[in-house]
Amino acid sequence: MDGQAASGGNSPLIPNITAQNKEYLIARLEDYKSGKINHPQMSLIAQMLSSEDIKNVSEWYSKIEITIKLPFDEINKPKLKE
Ligand code: HEM
Repeated sequence: MDGQAASGGNSPLIPNITAQNKEYLIARLEDYKSGKINHPQMSLIAQMLSSEDIKNVSEWYSKIEITIKLPFDEINKPKLKE
């Protein structure tokens, strides 16, 4: 295990938190932990995390950098010079 997922995940049921805003992640995890929001899996996971763990894991996911690839093909690619 190196902390790196083999893929970004593709389940419509499990949110992709890669590169998500840190404060947002902290807020959601604290909400699961306190019981303000509930989900069978996430409530269990959040309850096992200390607030320090929540900060650390949120920082980890928020700091992952992603790149996007626009759906241009070679033909539509803007030409920089002739
Ligand atoms: C350290 C591990 C994990 C972290 C940091 C984490 C973090 C989060 C966060 C921040 C959310 C809220 C996303 C949002 O509302 O935008 C979430 C939701 C969710 N997570 Fe996790 N998660 C972890 C592990 C897991 C695992 C192992 C599963 C499944 C087996 C899982 C299943 C889900 C599901 C189904 C939701 C949506 C719950 C809902 O609809 O309220 N998570 N997770």
